[in-house]
Amino acid sequence: TIQSIRAREILDSRGNPTVEAEVTLACGALARAASPSGASTGVHEALELRDGVIGRYGGKGVQRPVSLINGEIRDRLAGLDALEQQAVDEALIRLDGTPNKENLGANTTLAVSMAVARAAAAAEGRWLWEYLGDPARPLLPVPMLNILNGGVHANWQGPDFQEYMIAPYGAPTFAEALRWGAEIYHALKALLKEKGYSTGVGDEGGFAPTVSSNTEPLDLIVEAIERAGYDPGREVGIALDPASSSFYTGGAYELRTEGLTLTAAEMVDRYRELADAYPVIVIEDGLAEDDWDGWRLLTATLGDRVELVGDDLFVTNVARIERGIREGAANAVLIKPNQIGTVTETIAAVRLAQKNGWGAMVSHRSGETVDTFIADFTVAMQTGHLKTGAPARGERVAKYNQLLRIEEAAGEAARYAGRGGFVR
Ligand code: PGA
Ligand code: ZN
Repeated sequence: TIQSIRAREILDSRGNPTVEAEVTLACGALARAASPSGASTGVHEALELRDGVIGRYGGKGVQRPVSLINGEIRDRLAGLDALEQQAVDEALIRLDGTPNKENLGANTTLAVSMAVARAAAAAEGRWLWEYLGDPARPLLPVPMLNILNGGVHANWQGPDFQEYMIAPYGAPTFAEALRWGAEIYHALKALLKEKGYSTGVGDEGGFAPTVSSNTEPLDLIVEAIERAGYDPGREVGIALDPASSSFYTGGAYELRTEGLTLTAAEMVDRYRELADAYPVIVIEDGLAEDDWDGWRLLTATLGDRVELVGDDLFVTNVARIERGIREGAANAVLIKPNQIGTVTETIAAVRLAQKNGWGAMVSHRSGETVDTFIADFTVAMQTGHLKTGAPARGERVAKYNQLLRIEEAAGEAARYAGRGGFVR
C-alpha cells in the first residue's frame, strides 16, 4: 500500500531542473525515480510542465510539478496498492483529465508512475525487470551507442543529422557488445584527433566534430569500427537518427551543412544511397513528424531492409502508432516513457508495436539523470534494442551498467538479442 509520496526538484545532465519522486509503502519499501527531458521534442508529445518563472532557472523550474505531487497526487494515490500499476496509472490519468497530460504534466506523472513500479518491485524483493516482465526470459538488448552527435544536440555546429549510433549485434553477450562499443568509441576519438577535429562531446556523450557533410561521419565511423578490429556490417551495424523534424522548414528538408534543400522524395533517395553504401540498419525520424506521405514512401522504398523508427512521428502514443500501422508509415516505434507519462501507457505502446510485428526501441532523452528505469524496462519488454547514448558520461553509462548487472544476475537464463533484436 502506498503510504506517502514526496517530490523534489533535482538537476538533469544539462543542468536543468527535473522532477524526482519518492514513494514509500506501508511495508517500508522506498523507491525513487526521476523524469528525463528532451531537446528535439516532438510537437505531439505529452506536455512537460515547467514553472515559466523568469529569473528562476530560466523559466525551467519544476516547483509546480513538485507541489502537485506533494499535494493532490499524494492525496489521490495514498492507500492504493502499489502492485496494481494499472490502477495507479489510471488514477493519475483521471486526475489529469486530458489526453496529453496538460494539467499535471507528463514529467510529473511519469516520475510518480516509475517510482511506484520500483517500490512494488522492492516490496516483492525482485528486480524491476523481473517484476515488469517474465523472470524466466530476460532478453538483453543490443545497445545502440550514439558515438557522434549533431543537430540540436551539438548546437548545430556539427552535422544536421542528430545521432550516429553503432549497434554491436555480432557480440555473443551484452557485456561483450558494450566492450566492443567502448573500443570503437575510443578508436573514433583517436581518428578525430588525427584529422584535427575537436573531440568535445554533445548532449548524449558522442563526439561533435564540425564535419562538412552528413555522410562524412559514416566514413569516420566505418573506419573506427575497422580500427577497433570489428567487421562493419557483419558484426557492427550503424543506426541514424537524423531527427529531421528539427531541420524541416516550409515543407522541405534543409541540410545546412551541405547547403541543400531537399523534398521528401529526395530525402528518401538519399537514405537509399546511404543504406546501399554503408551498413545502415536503422533510420529513426528520417522524415518529419507530420510528413505522413513521406513516411509511406520511405517505408515502401526501404522498409524491407531497414528498420524505420518513428520517434517524433509517434511520440509513444497509441493513437498515432495505430495510424502508422494502418498506413504502413514505418515498421518500428521509438519508446520514450516521458512522451506519454505513465508506465502503463508506455507498456501499451510497446505491446501494440510487437503485436503488429513492428520493432520497439526504448530510448533515453538528451536530458537525463542516473535513473536506470529504461534499462530494466527494455529487458522486461523484450524489445531487443535500447538507445541510451554514448558509452561515456555518467547518466548514459548508468543504464548500460545496469544491464551488465542484470545480465550477470540472470546467468544462464540471459539471452543477448543480437541481430534478431531488429525487425529488419
Ligand atoms: P531528445 O532526443 O531527447 O532531445 O528529444 C532524442 C531523440 O530525438 O531520439
Ligand atoms: Zn529521435
